[in-house]
Amino acid sequence: METSVKMIIEGKEYEFPVIEGTESEKAIDISNLRAKTGYITIDEGFKNTGSTTSDITFLDGEEGILHYRGYDIEDLAEKAEFLEVAYLLIYGELPTVDQYAHFTQEIKYRSLVNEDMRKIFDGFPVNAHPMGVMSSLVVAMAGFYPELSKDLSPEALDLHIRRLLGKFPTLATWTYKKSQGHPPNYPKNKLDYCENFLNMMFALPVEEYTVDPVVASALNKLLILHADHEQNCSTSTVRLVGSSKANLYSSISAGISALWGPLHGGANQEVLEMLEEIMNDGGDVQKYIEKAKDKNSGFRLFGFGHRVYKNFDPRAKIIKKAADEVLEKLGINDPILEIAKGLEEATLKDDYFVSRKLYPNVDFYSGIIYRALGIPTNMFTVMFAIGRLPGWIAQWMELKEQKQAIGRPRQIYTGPVGKKFVEISKR
Ligand code: ACO
Repeated sequence: METSVKMIIEGKEYEFPVIEGTESEKAIDISNLRAKTGYITIDEGFKNTGSTTSDITFLDGEEGILHYRGYDIEDLAEKAEFLEVAYLLIYGELPTVDQYAHFTQEIKYRSLVNEDMRKIFDGFPVNAHPMGVMSSLVVAMAGFYPELSKDLSPEALDLHIRRLLGKFPTLATWTYKKSQGHPPNYPKNKLDYCENFLNMMFALPVEEYTVDPVVASALNKLLILHADHEQNCSTSTVRLVGSSKANLYSSISAGISALWGPLHGGANQEVLEMLEEIMNDGGDVQKYIEKAKDKNSGFRLFGFGHRVYKNFDPRAKIIKKAADEVLEKLGINDPILEIAKGLEEATLKDDYFVSRKLYPNVDFYSGIIYRALGIPTNMFTVMFAIGRLPGWIAQWMELKEQKQAIGRPRQIYTGPVGKKFVEISKR
């Protein structure tokens, strides 16, 4: 491997070091490019730009590999609990029995939300999108912990991490309960993380609700699969906001807003709405494939394609299998699943999709499971956010340790030059 690369600019040769990661990825370190040469780089959409080195997540888009802290995603999704994975992402190692007991207990004790938050929440209209509400409530949490900006000791940060992990599912269920006109449920400490969320979502004051272990286990798997994905749009947002030394709550709130977009986490809602549309339109998948191929239609097949995965999304493979299992165990015969399978099969044979390496992504099958679990469509992206929360926290913590400079990209100005001000009466 090269240890440095040479660049010739205006006839002068410059040398830049090469960095190599533990999985043999290579990067040219251009941190002093502008200082040395007066040039910057332009890389729209950051398709070739690494914003950081990171010890947290590795993915290989060509091979369809995803590792958290060196552990394979398939292994974790099969064998671990979501909070175990959260611990792994945030603290770097899987917890021991004692560490895990302490961590989960601490999170449980932080799951109650200050009743004054309800006053903020009550101000939202009933049909407000839950992602907007979540983003607002998370940044509002900063107002409840004003000591946050002063005390950045590890103990204080641990407390905020546990607060966020504890309260986030509680807040998420508030948005659903309000949409149904039902009273919110308080968390129950005897339940684990997934059971507690399901209980707060679906229990009613008028009858007993027992969490179905099949549903809890499927949710656990989905949350693990979503827990981190290196420098994607929302995570980069969290890091960029965090780089200004903004607090953890405001950085996470910004990440939630970024995740909401339909090209990112919002795609899971779009996928299901698209599949429903295809079904209601007679189930002709080919018609929608042709529409997606027509550049003038402005239509894309949601749930297909990925910025990094140009082979297959390993998460989609696991989720597809899980969707089959969950539907079978719950005895659900969902015609949407058949539409989804038909769409996948047809695209795999279609040169447009094959040549552009557009395979189903994580969002393609997750909506089908969420639907089977009884989660309403407009909550799908919130489910993604519950899963991604530990990843955002881990990346924010890493950024803090790295003591990076504030994130501040450059630009090349292409606007007008040398204009002279003309008084308004003379324009
Ligand atoms: N349907 C039809 N055509 C598509 C699709 C799609 N879903 N995705 C990409 N293409 C086409 C583009 O039109 C483009 O064609 P061209 O080369 O003829 O111009 C080519 O494939 C490359 O697409 P880009 O948009 O340049 O690829 P990029 O890496 O920038 O985008 C993205 C990736 C945003 C995920 C894109 O594939 C997309 O919009 N997919 C649908 C939305 C979606 O499912 N998002 C979720 C991603 S996963 C996540 O965030 C968790």
